[in-house]
Amino acid sequence: MSAEIEALGYIGIEVSDPERWRHFACDTLGLQAFDNAHGGFDLRMDNYASRIRVTEGPRDDLLYAGWEVRDEAALESLAVKLEAAGVSVSRGDAALAAERRVAALVRFTDPEGNGHEAFYGPLQKTNEPFVSPRGVRFKTGRQGLGHLVLSCGDKPAMMTFFIDLLGFRLSDHIHTEVVPGRPLAISFLRCNGRHHSLALAPVPIKKKIVHLMFEVLSIDDVGRAMHRCLAEGVHLSFTLGRHSNDDMLSFYPLSPSGFDIEYGWGGLEVDDDTWHVLTHDSNSAWGHVFQRPPRPAKIGD
Ligand SMILES: [Fe+2]
Repeated sequence: MSAEIEALGYIGIEVSDPERWRHFACDTLGLQAFDNAHGGFDLRMDNYASRIRVTEGPRDDLLYAGWEVRDEAALESLAVKLEAAGVSVSRGDAALAAERRVAALVRFTDPEGNGHEAFYGPLQKTNEPFVSPRGVRFKTGRQGLGHLVLSCGDKPAMMTFFIDLLGFRLSDHIHTEVVPGRPLAISFLRCNGRHHSLALAPVPIKKKIVHLMFEVLSIDDVGRAMHRCLAEGVHLSFTLGRHSNDDMLSFYPLSPSGFDIEYGWGGLEVDDDTWHVLTHDSNSAWGHVFQRPPRPAKIGD
């Protein structure tokens, strides 16, 4: 089956403390912020005018994930396929496309109500090149902005939606206990050479974002970012480690919104022609030790 979706192109998040986010994203992680005309700011990591749209609000979670397709024909093909399967699709008007900084988009929701958009024609700002405030270079291009791990209640329904309908390919499963005492089966889905652009994790948390991963081109950029987190007292939800399945060497700083960022290097590239679905019984080859977030001190402590 042909698959229209080729990359995770952008995401939108709603955050309760935009200024803390701006500092975390730029000064700690090395992304670049540009104020936008919609009361928030866009984070850039390459030529794309917007990779992360940050909007102020109480949700502290995902607003939408934007999936990139090749062209107008692919966008229409995907919309028709979704509608034929009974999924409600709304075509974004020109104003919304301009707001998202793309040529055109459609909107739909997955079986758990998460907002998704498919788009083509992302605005490229080669005339205003990305300059990381921390000298970081991110791995993007055909592999998109990184990967997104979503929590889910009905994982089989989500797997059917993303694999059978949207054309994602299954890379592997990890059966593990990321948090001791809580068995967990996570499934990893790809839409390009990146081992996964989306993972589905049936974890009992209220937030939809379990984590959002950015990959950098230098192992030293991982080390420097971790050093900045430690120096600033940013909580690390998982220590430095190497994942079992995609080989990513990474650590997990807790964002100001209470979901994790994975900051990694060295992710595996999958060849669709030769890849076999694998199973792992460990999240990591080494490291990635879970650390509970510090509790705020109570009066009288
Ligand atoms: Fe990850």
